[in-house]
Amino acid sequence: MPTTDGPLLSVRDLVVRFRTHDGTVHAVNGVSFDVAEGETLGLVGESGCGKSVTNLAVMRLLPKPAGHIEGGEIRFEGIDLTKASEAQMRDLRGSDIAMIFQDPMTSLNPVLTIEEQMVETIRAHRPVGQKEARDRAIELLRMVGIPNPELRLRSFPHHFSGGMRQRVMIAMALALEPKLLIADEPTTALDVTIQAQVLELLQRLTTERGTAVILITHDLGVVAGMASRINVMYAGFVAETASTPVLFAEPRHPYTVGLLHSMPRLDSPEGEPLIPIEGTPPDLRRAPVGCPFAPRCAWRLPRCWEANPSLQPLVGGEPIVTTGPGVTHRIACWNPPTADEARIGRPLREGFVPAPPPGAAGTGAAASGTGGDVVVFAAGGDGQDGGTAAAGHSPEPAAPGRRS
Ligand SMILES: Nc1ncnc2c1ncn2[C@@H]1O[C@H](COP(=O)(O)OP(=O)(O)OP(=O)(O)O)[C@@H](O)[C@H]1O
Ligand code: SF4
Ligand SMILES: [Mg+2]
Repeated sequence: MPTTDGPLLSVRDLVVRFRTHDGTVHAVNGVSFDVAEGETLGLVGESGCGKSVTNLAVMRLLPKPAGHIEGGEIRFEGIDLTKASEAQMRDLRGSDIAMIFQDPMTSLNPVLTIEEQMVETIRAHRPVGQKEARDRAIELLRMVGIPNPELRLRSFPHHFSGGMRQRVMIAMALALEPKLLIADEPTTALDVTIQAQVLELLQRLTTERGTAVILITHDLGVVAGMASRINVMYAGFVAETASTPVLFAEPRHPYTVGLLHSMPRLDSPEGEPLIPIEGTPPDLRRAPVGCPFAPRCAWRLPRCWEANPSLQPLVGGEPIVTTGPGVTHRIACWNPPTADEARIGRPLREGFVPAPPPGAAGTGAAASGTGGDVVVFAAGGDGQDGGTAAAGHSPEPAAPGRRS
């Protein structure tokens, strides 16, 4: 297999669409990111923002016949997976790239015992006999904390609790020591104690083996302790990317600011209220026009309705680092909140109101992030909101974004 000195995984301008009876779903709209050997990348964002689909595309397991990769490159160790044959992909899946799926029951076969499934998986990728594969399965089940693994091998998936099934999934994913492990909401179905155990296990195993991980979750708390870097996704785009400490301390995309204000944090002052991000993500059956977050954004400018900003470094003039702890902080935003605004969760510029949709100037619909004590991230639904009659009059503060 060809290798490169570049990142283990390099995704560039990935576009995924679903052709359905209801129209085309614009699920992933030009996503780029890299993952280096041994690092853990967190992928967060609300439901439907394209986290799973991005990674199913990497695995080339998009639901057929609707799902298609319609553009971009996915390079794994230098090979463009968008062009790999099915046979090549079968070899890669499980041996080099493994995925823990969002719902373990959908990826474990209910009519086969754990032994049959694990032994078959191991033997499909390694030239080992039945006994050796079985011993390996036992070792892995023990490693993920399943008691009496010899006995439990004979169980069917429905004999396990949710937490134990997740462990079996992790054991199966790790069976072949993949170079890249994609964990899609590995702990969502679990109670908090088991969740912590499973995450700790995942972290330990991947640290010991130097496995690269893409950890997908809607929960920023989960990635905080696990991932060294975070990509925040919205409506099939990456809205912000930074190292984990930087993203938590200095979020600069309004959506990330919203996410952080909507979740409990240990470092928040006592009694500080949580502020949900109002409104809903856009309907992905419509082709994206302008910034997809505009209908919910308190910082939006008139141009936000028309032009979608690309992901750009906050500080220009330096080479862009795409992996590792020194990763360049990048956002896709025309009008990023200042540090003070990010902290408080709303624009603080005097007289600023979010720009109403084109043609809605003067309709006077209530909307703003300036409403006294009321902090507003959103202003109604898609195309229905609007500022006061301030269209085009919003002060455009010096924004670090230099979009083209
Ligand atoms: N089989 C499919 N057919 C049509 N649209 C689909 C299909 N699978 C996913 N989508 C759409 O693709 C978009 C992205 O979905 P995806 O599953 O990646 O979201 P997600 O970020 O993983 O959300 P969640 O947090 O709920 O798992 C959504 O709009 C979803 O409705
Ligand atoms: S300020 Fe504009 S570009 Fe930035 S998130 Fe808000 S709507 Fe999008
Ligand atoms: Mg998902």
